[in-house]
Amino acid sequence: MKIFLKTSVSMLLIMCFISCGNSRSFFIKTASSGKSAVSRNGMVVSAHPEATKVGYEILKNGGNAIDAMVGVHFALAVVYPSAGNLGGGGFMMYRENNGNIFSLDFREKAPQNAYEKMYLDEEGNVIDGQSLSGQKASGVPGSVDGMLKAHEKFGSLPLPSLLIPAIKLAEKGFHITSKQARNYNHYKNDFVKYNQYLGSVPLIKEWNWKEGDLLVQKDLAKTLKRIKENGRAGFYEGKTAELIVAEMKAGNGIINYEDLKNYSSTWRKPVTGNYKDYKVYSMAPSSSGGIALIQLLKMAEHFPVSEFGSKSTKTIHIMTEMERRVYADRAEHLGDSDFWDVPINELLDDEYIAQRVEQINLTAATSSKEVRAMELENIVESEETTHYSIIDGKGNAVSLTTTINSPYGSKVFVQGAGFLLNNEMDDFSSKPGVPNKYGLLGGAANSIQPGKRMLSAMTPTILEKDGELFMVVGTPGGSTIITSVFQTILNVIDHGMDMTGAVSEKRFHHQWKPDFIYMEEGAIQEPVLKELMKMGHKIKGRGSIGRVDAILVRPDGSYEGAADPRGDEWAMGIE
Ligand code: DON
Repeated sequence: MKIFLKTSVSMLLIMCFISCGNSRSFFIKTASSGKSAVSRNGMVVSAHPEATKVGYEILKNGGNAIDAMVGVHFALAVVYPSAGNLGGGGFMMYRENNGNIFSLDFREKAPQNAYEKMYLDEEGNVIDGQSLSGQKASGVPGSVDGMLKAHEKFGSLPLPSLLIPAIKLAEKGFHITSKQARNYNHYKNDFVKYNQYLGSVPLIKEWNWKEGDLLVQKDLAKTLKRIKENGRAGFYEGKTAELIVAEMKAGNGIINYEDLKNYSSTWRKPVTGNYKDYKVYSMAPSSSGGIALIQLLKMAEHFPVSEFGSKSTKTIHIMTEMERRVYADRAEHLGDSDFWDVPINELLDDEYIAQRVEQINLTAATSSKEVRAMELENIVESEETTHYSIIDGKGNAVSLTTTINSPYGSKVFVQGAGFLLNNEMDDFSSKPGVPNKYGLLGGAANSIQPGKRMLSAMTPTILEKDGELFMVVGTPGGSTIITSVFQTILNVIDHGMDMTGAVSEKRFHHQWKPDFIYMEEGAIQEPVLKELMKMGHKIKGRGSIGRVDAILVRPDGSYEGAADPRGDEWAMGIE
């Protein structure tokens, strides 16, 4: 009996060690931290527990949501190298507690020496992989400028203090999770292939990585220190710029000093719309996310979604049909609005939305071949990304999605600077009719031009109910970002789920072309699958879709943070 008890206790401890996953003390779940957390005085949900903790500490020490955002962003650049970044870009939505809303576009830009056909061979065919890996795949990074610009306008704590946690994590190291160990081992060959000086690639080591190994990134710490000391110039000029340009020259890269010096993030007017009693604020172009999400929600309003139920044939059918139509519009009409006249008002026009809904057959799938984008003549004019959500003690909220595109971006570490460059150029349409990495199509609206931003699907979103903050939501997932945010919102508003349930729910996705409903395992039950196929839908299983990190304001005013169970995500609330 004694032996049994002793064994059970140690088993319990071992199990806790395993299920607490990351094995650091703050990873142990409490009411206000974990995959699901509840608190009253602030909340941080991000893709990595160490980064979440940095944001939590900043809030606890009196920082506001923007201070926490800056701390979390730079911390993710250290502890989540697959997507957290200095060498990428993203989008921020910010809602002050007085209801003012701001959005910042810090998406990468095509370098000045980029041109429309830069990824085509002499016969006009797309050169396989050139926009995806190696130095030529990178756009001019926007993250550092974005963080500093947002901080300058809204931050309350001094910038250097917000970089210190990231510098410490890079300098002293942090213990990697089991998912990270698997991931680093998986990508080792790519790192070897695309980097000349392997000694300077922190993710390569002689033996396989394993959970708990310490990852130290000395060069990255030095780059972060340069930003801490010199601000913008610590990245876009001086030593860091020299290292980036040298890295470009080491391969076939085209980013030069002027590109770096001239990069500037841009404040944009958020895209807004109503869904039932809720007001939705999301990202305008250069992201397609806001327009597409609001088109979807406006279409959904034409159907009794809640009566249909969350996973019924009817719901999955109509969501698919709406998604098919919205992604057709995206491919044709969306691109960087600084270069292309995006018909935002027309795409969100109630009459146009109603016409689109009328074309949906309730009993049969429309073939994507028959679905076209909005005819412009008829109108007056024209795995890897990461998302984090933060609310501070005063109710200011940040919804931010950032990326270097693929996992580990271009796979190129800037030698001596310790960070990865993005492969965001693949988000442009290299050639009309040729899909990008995510199967997305595009044309002139999203063609490559110097200084232009490539179209994104990132959808950092904030919802209000009765003029009060209601939800902060977003996710990675390439083309599936928009539909994952859409599904999560419906899960809460129409299907009565709490934030944790809505985030954990299995997901499905359609993007016009290819003409498939993609589903996570178990997302669609057997009888529904059969009914959908009878209606003419083609369905494909795939791996996980999205990693939604979101916060819901509950009726009693408390915050429910939900960290997606699909990843290492972690939520921490301030009690
Ligand atoms: O901006 C975009 O839409 C893509 N570069 C996002 C990539 C992404 O989400 C990959 N993560 N899983």
